[in-house]
Amino acid sequence: MKQTMMRMLLHFLLVLFGVLTTFVLIQAQDQSGFISIDCGLPKDINYSSLDTGINYISDAKFIDAGVSKKIAETDIKQELQYVRSFPSGVRNCYRINVTSGIKYLIRSSFYYGNYDDLNEPPEFDLHFGPNVWDTVKLTNISHITDSEIIYTPLLDYIQPCLVNTGKGTPFISVIELRTLNNEVYVTNSAKSVVSPLRRSDVGSIANEYRYKDDVYDRIWFPSNSSFKRLHISPGTASLLLGNNYELPAIVMNTAVTSETPSAPLNFSWEADNVNDQFYLYMHFKEVEELAANETRSFNITVNDKFWYGNVTPKSLYTTAFSTKPLTGATRYLFSLSKTENSTLPPILNAYEVYKVKLFSQLETHQDDVDTITNIKNTYGVTRNWQGDPCGPVNYMWEGLNCSIDGYSIPRITSLNLASSGLTGEIPSSISKLTMLEYLDLSNNSLNGPLPDFLMQLRSLKVLNVGKNKLVGLVPIEFLDRSKSGSLSLSVDDNPDLCMTESCKKKNVVVPLVASLSALAVILLISLGIWLFRRKTDEDTSPNSNNKGSMKSKHQKFSYTEILKITDNFKTIIGEGGFGKVYFGILKDQTQVAVKRLSPSSKQGYKEFQSEAQLLMVVHHRNLVPLLGYCDEGQTKALIYKYMANGNLQQLLVKNSNILSWNERLNIAVDTAHGNVLFLASYFLHFVSVHFP
Ligand SMILES: *[C@@H]1O[C@H](CO)[C@@H](O)[C@H](O)[C@H]1NC(C)=O
Ligand SMILES: *[C@@H]1O[C@H](CO)[C@@H](O)[C@H](O)[C@H]1NC(C)=O
Ligand SMILES: *[C@@H]1O[C@H](CO)[C@@H](O)[C@H](O)[C@H]1NC(C)=O
Ligand SMILES: *[C@@H]1O[C@H](CO)[C@@H](O)[C@H](O)[C@H]1NC(C)=O
Ligand SMILES: *[C@@H]1O[C@H](CO)[C@@H](O)[C@H](O)[C@H]1NC(C)=O
Ligand SMILES: *[C@@H]1O[C@H](CO)[C@@H](O)[C@H](O)[C@H]1NC(C)=O
Ligand SMILES: *[C@@H]1O[C@H](CO)[C@@H](O)[C@H](O)[C@H]1NC(C)=O
Ligand SMILES: *[C@@H]1O[C@H](CO)[C@@H](O)[C@H](O)[C@H]1NC(C)=O
Ligand SMILES: *[C@@H]1O[C@H](CO)[C@@H](O)[C@H](O)[C@H]1NC(C)=O
Ligand SMILES: *[C@@H]1O[C@H](CO)[C@@H](O)[C@H](O)[C@H]1NC(C)=O
Repeated sequence: MKQTMMRMLLHFLLVLFGVLTTFVLIQAQDQSGFISIDCGLPKDINYSSLDTGINYISDAKFIDAGVSKKIAETDIKQELQYVRSFPSGVRNCYRINVTSGIKYLIRSSFYYGNYDDLNEPPEFDLHFGPNVWDTVKLTNISHITDSEIIYTPLLDYIQPCLVNTGKGTPFISVIELRTLNNEVYVTNSAKSVVSPLRRSDVGSIANEYRYKDDVYDRIWFPSNSSFKRLHISPGTASLLLGNNYELPAIVMNTAVTSETPSAPLNFSWEADNVNDQFYLYMHFKEVEELAANETRSFNITVNDKFWYGNVTPKSLYTTAFSTKPLTGATRYLFSLSKTENSTLPPILNAYEVYKVKLFSQLETHQDDVDTITNIKNTYGVTRNWQGDPCGPVNYMWEGLNCSIDGYSIPRITSLNLASSGLTGEIPSSISKLTMLEYLDLSNNSLNGPLPDFLMQLRSLKVLNVGKNKLVGLVPIEFLDRSKSGSLSLSVDDNPDLCMTESCKKKNVVVPLVASLSALAVILLISLGIWLFRRKTDEDTSPNSNNKGSMKSKHQKFSYTEILKITDNFKTIIGEGGFGKVYFGILKDQTQVAVKRLSPSSKQGYKEFQSEAQLLMVVHHRNLVPLLGYCDEGQTKALIYKYMANGNLQQLLVKNSNILSWNERLNIAVDTAHGNVLFLASYFLHFVSVHFP
C-alpha cells in the first residue's frame, strides 16, 4: 500500500520534472545568449548552420583589420569556409560587445585548410584584452583547433587579439560567445580564468555533442578510455533534472564503469608545470535500474587524497562534484572506488578538467581607453595601437606608459606623440587622461593656443610642446607650475607662442591691436606725409630735390661718413627686416645705431622712407630718437641714438620694468581712447624696426 503510494508520487514527480525540464530546454535553445561569428564571412551575410542550427554572422562589424579569405575545400562545415587573415600589423583585435558581469564561454576556432596555398600552417598568439590568452599552433592542414575560456568580462566589450610572433600569418575561422549561469565554473579569483583541458563524455565512443544537445554549446568529446561502457537501461528515467551545469541528457545517459566491482575507475592528466592550477568537475547520474538488494556507492580520491565519500549517483537528476584548485603536481590522477558495502562498481558519466589562466592584468581604465581611442581616431595614429593600450606589458601601445601594479586598474601615465605629423589643435580630450605625468607633443604641426585645460592634469610633470606652430600666450598657470618646479615645461620653437615675460616677437599686442593698427598706420602715414610735406615746404634746404627723397632738419650723412661712423660696419648689434643694424660713434662722441637698408631687403625702400618720415615727426619716451639718415645711391641708412642699455628690444626683453605687461596693455587701451598716433607709431616701430 505504502509502496503503491510512493510509486504514484514518484510517477507524478517524474511527469512534473519532465515538464519542467522540457520547458527549461526549450527556453535555452533560442540562442539568446549566443554571439556566433564566422570570421571572414562577407559583410551583412548570415546563415544558420546545417548541423547545429547555430546562426552565424559576419565578423565585419567587429573588426576593421585583416582580409577575408576563402578555403578551396567545399566539404567542410560552413562556418569554416572563410577565414580572416592578418598579413599586416603585429596585433590585430576584435572588439565584441558583451554584458559585463555575466559569465561567458568564449571560443575561437582555427581551421587552416591551406587557404593561402602556402601549405604551412602558422603558429601565433592570442591575447585577450591586456592578457595573453593562448598560443595557437597548427600542425595539420585539415585539423580544427580551438581555444576556449570561461570568463566574466568587467567591461561591456571584449577584445580578442591575434598576434603575429613571426611564425606565419595569423588567421581565425570562428568566434563564439555563450552566456553561462554565473553559479557554474566558479574560480577562487576573478583573475583565474579557466580554459578546458578536457571535456569528456566518457561513456561515448564516437559522437561529439554540442548545441542543441548542450544549451551552453559546450563541445563534449567522446572518450577512448578502455573502461566498460554503460548505456541507460530502459527502466531508468531518461529525463533529467538538471543542475546549473545543465549537462546534456545525451551525455549523461552514458557512463563508464569498471569490469569488477572492486576495480577502481582511474583517470589522469599531465601538467606541463607543477605550478599549473586545475579545476576538476565530475558529473554523475545513475544509468542502471538497481535491484532492491543492489547499492552503488563510491569514494573519490585525487592523487590519493580523499575528496568525496559515499557518492551515490541518482537516476532522477545529475550531480556535479568539483574540486578546489589543484596544483603542485605534474600528474593528476583521480580514482573512483566502491565503498565497502556497495554491491556495484563506481560509474562516471562525464568530467571536465580546466586549466587556470591567470589574467593578472586588469583592463585599462575605461575613460583612458575611450580618450586614447578618440586621440587615435582624431590624429589617425598609425602605430601598433590595437587592443588594450596598457597590455600585455610587452605590447603596450607605442608611445604610452601605464601604471601597472597588479592590483589597481591600469592608468595611462605617459603619452609621447612627438614627431608624429600631428596637425590641428591640441584636443581637449587629452585633459581626460587624468593620471598623465608625461606628455610630449613636440615636433609636430600643432596650431592654435596652448590650452588651459592641460592644467587640469594635476599629475603632469613633463610637458613638451616644442617645435610646433602654437600661437598666443603660454597661460600663466603653466609658468607658475614651471617656476615652482612641479612642471618641466618646454615650448621652444613655436614662433608665434609667447611666454608672458619674454615675448620674443610680434607678441600679443599684434592680435590685440592688429586690425586697429592697420588703420592707424594708414592714417599715420598720411598724417606723417602731410606734416612732412608741410615742413619741407617751409624748409629752405639747399639739398632739396623733388624726387620724394628724404629731407628734413635731421642730419643727412654721406656714405663715407656712415663708413667712418660705423668703422666700416664693424659691429653688428642687430638685424631687422630692412637689414643689419650697426654700432657707430658720431664726431661728437654720441653713440648711435645705424640701420642700413639691405639691397635685398624684402620690405624695400618705400617702407624705409615711411619709417624715416614717421620717426621724424613722432616722439615718445619708448621710441629711439632718430638723429639722421643716409640716402646716397644704393646706400640707405637711418641713424638712431644708441640706447645705453641696449636697444629697445633688449630693454623690453631683459628688463620688464621698461615696458611692463601692464604698460603694454595700457597701450592697447590707449588705442581705444583714440591715441592712434602714439599707438601706431609705437606699433610700427616696435614691429618693423626692432622686432624682426
Ligand atoms: C540576417 O540577414 C537578414 C537579411 O539577409 C537580416 O534581415 C537579418 O537581420 C540578419 N540577421 C542578423 C542577426 O544579422
Ligand atoms: C558596441 O557598443 C558601443 C557602445 O555601447 C556602440 O557604440 C557600438 O556600436 C557597439 N558595437 C557593435 C558592433 O554593436
Ligand atoms: C590531419 O588531421 C586529419 C584529421 O584530423 C587526419 O586525418 C590526417 O591524417 C592528419 N594529417 C597529418 C599529416 O597529421
Ligand atoms: C586515448 O588517447 C590518448 C591520446 O588522446 C592516448 O594517449 C591514450 O593512449 C589513448 N588510450 C587508449 C586506451 O586508447
Ligand atoms: C588507480 O588509482 C589507485 C589510487 O591511486 C591506485 O591505487 C591503483 O593502482 C590505480 N589503478 C590503476 C589500474 O591504475
Ligand atoms: C540480489 O538479489 C538477486 C535476486 O533477487 C540475486 O540474484 C543477486 O545475487 C542479489 N545480489 C546481491 C549483490 O546480493
Ligand atoms: C569512503 O568515505 C567514507 C566517508 O565519506 C569513509 O568513512 C570511508 O572509510 C571511505 N572508504 C574508503 C574505502 O576510503
Ligand atoms: C556496511 O554494512 C554493515 C553491515 O550491514 C554495517 O555494519 C556497516 O556500518 C556498513 N558500513 C557503512 C560504511 O555503511
Ligand atoms: C614605464 O614606467 C615604468 C615605471 O613607471 C618605468 O620603469 C618604465 O621604464 C617606463 N617604460 C617606458 C618605456 O618608458
Ligand atoms: C621631427 O619630425 C620629422 C618628421 O615629422 C623627423 O624627420 C625629424 O627627425 C624630427 N626631428 C626630431 C628632432 O625629432
